[in-house]
Amino acid sequence: MRERNAMTSRHVENRDKFWLEEAGRLHWFKEPMVASDVSWDAEDFHIRWYEDGVLNASYQCLDRHLETRGEKTAILWEGDDPSVSEAITYREAHEEVCRMANVLKARGVGKGDRVILYMPMTPEAAYAMLACARIGAVHSVVFGGFSPEALASRIEDCGAVAVITADEARRGGKTVPLKENVDRAIERAGKAGDAVHLVLTVRVTGAKVGFEDGRDLWWHTSRDDVTKECPSEPMAAEDPLFILYTSGSTGKPKGVVHTTGGYMVYASYTHEKIFEVAEDDVYWCTADVGWITGHSYIVYGPLANGVTTLMFEGVPTYPDASRMWEVVDKHKVAQIYTAPTAIRALMREGDGPVKKTSRASLKLLGTVGEPINPEAWRWYHEVVGEGRCPIVDTWWQTETGGVLITPLPSDPMTKPGAATKPMPGIMPALVDNDGNPLDGAAEGNLILTESWPGQARGVWGDQERFIQTYFSTYPGRYFTGDGARRDEGGDYWITGRVDDVLNVSGHRMGTAEIESALVAHPSVAEAAVVGYPHDIKGQGVHCYVILNQGTEPTDALAKTLRGHVREEIGPVATPDRVQLAPGLPKTRSGKIMRRILRKIAEGHPDQLGDTSTLAEPQVVDALIDGAKQFE
Ligand code: WT7
Repeated sequence: MRERNAMTSRHVENRDKFWLEEAGRLHWFKEPMVASDVSWDAEDFHIRWYEDGVLNASYQCLDRHLETRGEKTAILWEGDDPSVSEAITYREAHEEVCRMANVLKARGVGKGDRVILYMPMTPEAAYAMLACARIGAVHSVVFGGFSPEALASRIEDCGAVAVITADEARRGGKTVPLKENVDRAIERAGKAGDAVHLVLTVRVTGAKVGFEDGRDLWWHTSRDDVTKECPSEPMAAEDPLFILYTSGSTGKPKGVVHTTGGYMVYASYTHEKIFEVAEDDVYWCTADVGWITGHSYIVYGPLANGVTTLMFEGVPTYPDASRMWEVVDKHKVAQIYTAPTAIRALMREGDGPVKKTSRASLKLLGTVGEPINPEAWRWYHEVVGEGRCPIVDTWWQTETGGVLITPLPSDPMTKPGAATKPMPGIMPALVDNDGNPLDGAAEGNLILTESWPGQARGVWGDQERFIQTYFSTYPGRYFTGDGARRDEGGDYWITGRVDDVLNVSGHRMGTAEIESALVAHPSVAEAAVVGYPHDIKGQGVHCYVILNQGTEPTDALAKTLRGHVREEIGPVATPDRVQLAPGLPKTRSGKIMRRILRKIAEGHPDQLGDTSTLAEPQVVDALIDGAKQFE
């Protein structure tokens, strides 16, 4: 608490000074003299941090440590197969990254070019990110659980010139055909696919894959054709570092853009203060590099700080429910950072699989991605951490670059389920639906009133959409899309999204995206998708589907539609329920009343409220009746 208070007062005293001092944690080729220049007014919109500074993120994560930590493990890789692991030193990682950067360069990839990464959780995923950063190319990692269709639309949207992938990914004893998906995506992307002139493939399983001469290269052979030295490109602080696609409440996913200087300062700052990793600690974040958590807290934050970061190829329940704790013992992990959905899934297996491990090395436990229910918090604290490890429940978003609201390890751990207080330097507030500020203990919409270095700078190719999405609901302020409650002690409790975005197992999903996948099926006339509480996943996906005239509503068709969404978006979006319905509850002006659909899916048909404005009230009874199949 003391450190938090001291930092917060430093920020209050002089904000520019505070953030310039934090910038001093990085190695700059040219130190910045200005902290920020920000306007969230639509008329004159700009966000700039450290704009006169020059640096390189890859240099920051590798070269800068060579003298003092060259032989220290940078990446501790644990394979899907429990008998396989590998320690990679900072020096070795530096060499691999330089080689990969040189392969990219040799194929004409350079500063400002976009490169899609579609990777398994192997060290090469980190090398690929850092190799792009090294030469100033902008990476966009696409989670390996997305379909070729989703991959194609991202290749197209960002205008990628290269893709880095693997033959196959291994996960939980199964394989995912990454290279085959890339080939399909490039074909699907048409002209945009033709612009991809390099597919660099890492050999992981040795599966036989297609190979297009002139375009495709194997990493394990091409790495020997280049030298192990590659200078890092001096980048302006506001040059883009990466694009990461995320779902919103409308339309297709947005390519959120993060730039170099502010993002790196913020990732390093938050990683240091939240996780308190000592020089000899092994730190483990279980996220996938396909999400922002993997960017900021597997790769950029920890490596910028010279930490040993554990990278895990597998899943928490393979080969069995003890795996996570066995990995903790095997590598003497000190900090573990995971998602509530994983904790709930493991909790369900009982204490046995945990108790048979030691976990003596653990010092701190973290969670991220969704609200953690107090029961799961307590199990994590008492059973996993044996009551001696603080829990940091970190609230943030793809757009925020790093954690904004979280307990710090030295805070008293008295509020299970509360994200508690803002990081020093962060200014959250609550407003009502009209944008009026709410003071003291209150519940409302969560906004930020001031910029911070890690904030996203835009939406790739559509700055208007960026301003519209985040800065127009409450003009001049950043709207998170989340609701929150602030208690008497000033602690924040995140209550979840207040827009049409779902959070399924910590993965963000737009209902509009799933709806458009459904209506793309020839049998579907209309669809509405809502979330409902799910014991393990946090939220489940409930789809109401209206079929075309004359189409028989059968169980087989419902099943086909689930598979269809999976094909279109990817396994992460697979609907839990498909309800074939005769109609949707609409107002006389034709607007779907989602509130009613949510209540029915939640199993509260008694709480529908006023339905008198509906065009066809009788449709509601049919929907309630139809939902009974899921009880
Ligand atoms: C949304 C952002 C941030 C990395 C992973 C997800 C929800 C995130 C928490 C938390 C309650 C949380 C919010 C947020 N969320 N962390 N500790 N407590 N809710 O990133 O995919 O951009 O999703 O995840 O609803 O808006 P994302």
